[in-house]
Amino acid sequence: MNLILLAAGNGRRMKSNLPKVLHEICGRSMICRVLDITQKLKNLNTTIVVQKDHNLIKENINKNFDEKKVFHFAIQNEQLGTGDAVKSALNHLDNSLFTLILYGDVPLIEFKTIKLLCADLDSTSDLRILTANVIDPKGYGRVIRNKTKQIIKIIEEKDASVEERKIKEVFAVPLLIKTKVLKQIIRKLSRDNKQNESYLTDIVRFAAQQKLKVQSVNLKNEDEMIGVNDQSQKIFAEKIFKRRLIDFYQNKGLNIIDPERFDIRGELTFKKNVTIDIGCILTGKIKLGNNVLVGAYSNLKNVEAGDNVEIKPYCHIENSKLKKGSSIGPFARLRDQTTIGQNCRVGNFVEIKNSFLGFGTKASHLSYLGDAKIGKNVNIGAGAITCNYDGINKNVTTIDDNVFIGSNSSLVAPIKIKQGATIGASSCITEDAPAKSLNVERNKQTTIKNWKKK
Ligand code: UD1
Ligand code: CA
Repeated sequence: MNLILLAAGNGRRMKSNLPKVLHEICGRSMICRVLDITQKLKNLNTTIVVQKDHNLIKENINKNFDEKKVFHFAIQNEQLGTGDAVKSALNHLDNSLFTLILYGDVPLIEFKTIKLLCADLDSTSDLRILTANVIDPKGYGRVIRNKTKQIIKIIEEKDASVEERKIKEVFAVPLLIKTKVLKQIIRKLSRDNKQNESYLTDIVRFAAQQKLKVQSVNLKNEDEMIGVNDQSQKIFAEKIFKRRLIDFYQNKGLNIIDPERFDIRGELTFKKNVTIDIGCILTGKIKLGNNVLVGAYSNLKNVEAGDNVEIKPYCHIENSKLKKGSSIGPFARLRDQTTIGQNCRVGNFVEIKNSFLGFGTKASHLSYLGDAKIGKNVNIGAGAITCNYDGINKNVTTIDDNVFIGSNSSLVAPIKIKQGATIGASSCITEDAPAKSLNVERNKQTTIKNWKKK
């Protein structure tokens, strides 16, 4: 089958600089959400219609799909309507096939519906449209039928009479047409209407006039047809999509404490006995092992957590890996390719950036660890920090196994603290510490005995 996916509209109603189809539904652009569904159809010859300066759309699609998937891009030079957009894709079509036409701003369409629309095609099939009977048809093209219920045309809302506007059956997208018929009829489209646009929907009228076979499939689930034209429709679509994802996760056993207070903006995979407490936002690729607990109000972006990891409330974790048995937070921040080893403990108000912590290492309170390579069973005292930035470069701190860093110490990088060394509390360490050494850098304490206030 040929597929034409329209994504060249101006999207003015969104009041945004971003091309409309790049607005996201649960962390993935609308256009990619549509392509996720169409990719399930085999042997598809896909053409995506974009504006000439819409490289962002191409980039977004190329980033999100395997490069082996070939998509043609067709340019619509001027935004003259959906009919004109389809015209710009005609060169890419295989005449011997049917052509399915989808809109990039109708992101909730499901595979089973497309399959239903495409079922039992034969040489007598000419044109099929998906329609829906809705409570509020506002904004959609109305389906006009004659006395014998044959479809005779679709009339756009702006061109419809008061009586026609009362019709509840609307064009829900997609449309399926024999390619040769499409190529022949599309030449007839004019822009003689209220919006001065070439309407793809007018091909239904021409097909009916030519006594071609015009069929419809009626959509039962109204949710699938939501067209996203403005911000409020986007929020509405996202709510429905989120509910679908939650149902899917719950069926696989995920324990979401309160689905109303759960946000997913990406892809989540998880093993058994995983709990997500309220107010969490999961973004990007999230992979959770067995018995993982994500505490309330935590923000996770591109995170992989092994079995038995506990993320306590209010953590911000980005682009990081937590190995099994570790405990993080509350109020911890991990970022930029940090790896927390097995059975580590990262406590409250600890920030770790681009660092590695080995097995059993602990940083329990109030620390900054940046660009640090830390071995096994290291204890980082409260308030200890790596001074990784000298104003120009970021420098590495290396801390070997079994090191003890006393509270409130500063380790001025580049620096190496060798195996088993101890740093006395409150030291500012500027030179490497040898293995098993004690290193103290602090003034002698002055004690005045029996001192009385003046
Ligand atoms: C369209 C239909 C309407 C249907 C509704 C379903 C037409 C004329 N009307 O209305 O019958 O009920 O969708 O959601 O088709 N686009 C281009 N180039 C253009 C104009 C639009 O590529 O010049 C693309 C847009 O990016 C969008 C899609 O076509 O993805 C639909 O355009 P839009 O303006 O949103 O059409 P609607 O008014 O929603
Ligand atoms: Ca639309």
